[in-house]
Amino acid sequence: MLTKTDYGDILEFKAARTIMGRPLYYNYFFFVDGLLIDTGPPHVSSEIIAALKKLPIEKVAITHQHEDHTGNCYPIQKYLGVPVYAHPETIKVLANPPAVPVYRKIMWGNLPRAEASPLGNTIITSSYTFQVINTPGHSADHVSFFEPQNRWLFCGDLYLGEKLIGFMFGENIAEHLRSLQNIILLKPQTLFCGLKGRLDNAVERLTRKYNFWWDIGCRVRELDDANIPHKQILSKVFGGETIFYYISQSNWGRRFMLDSIIDNITFFEAGQKKGSLAGPDSNR
Ligand SMILES: [Fe+2]
Repeated sequence: MLTKTDYGDILEFKAARTIMGRPLYYNYFFFVDGLLIDTGPPHVSSEIIAALKKLPIEKVAITHQHEDHTGNCYPIQKYLGVPVYAHPETIKVLANPPAVPVYRKIMWGNLPRAEASPLGNTIITSSYTFQVINTPGHSADHVSFFEPQNRWLFCGDLYLGEKLIGFMFGENIAEHLRSLQNIILLKPQTLFCGLKGRLDNAVERLTRKYNFWWDIGCRVRELDDANIPHKQILSKVFGGETIFYYISQSNWGRRFMLDSIIDNITFFEAGQKKGSLAGPDSNR
């Protein structure tokens, strides 16, 4: 399934694999002024390529390595012949794609091998200059693209929602919070999110997300300082694990968010809550 919404300067694509007519998981990617930002999942490849062939695409920029964002780099190069730009770590993954967990293979598909060139500090199109901002946390190679005149932020999977509780294995909450803090300082106005699409009130949304995770981290630190077993912390703070931990074959779960907080426990302050964005010093 592929639909598109025209916001004038920006074309938003919404893609999902469907089974029995029902979408499994939505992914968004965007076209602006000759630039395609992310490429959608491999399972929707034929629809995506047919749609992209009608557009004057000059280049592609990738936010991070996950196959719902990189999944059509190869067919885009093959059929459109345009360059792909990505973080050096993303380039390594595209050159030698790893096996993906079964749940991701079902939702998005296997990542085909593709070539890409390294991103610079900016991406320049006819009318815009996009700043390339490192925003690690969701993945180590995650970047966002900020257009300062319109205060657009193309943020891949940096946002995803305000009250998300749970991580893929390997996500880093301290890096993610530092990335959110750095991005909030840019004062973006509109988010272009890989899961939710175009969203207004960017600073307010990002700040609420920051504060929600910060408060969880501080609550965990309080309990960890009191030597409460982590299994009990998972139950008290996170409400226990969800069925998706088992569906994902132990690749996505609330425990990975808890693990990341524990790994970064000194980042948080026991018992502290944030009513507004303050958070830890960025050099902590
Ligand atoms: Fe992702």
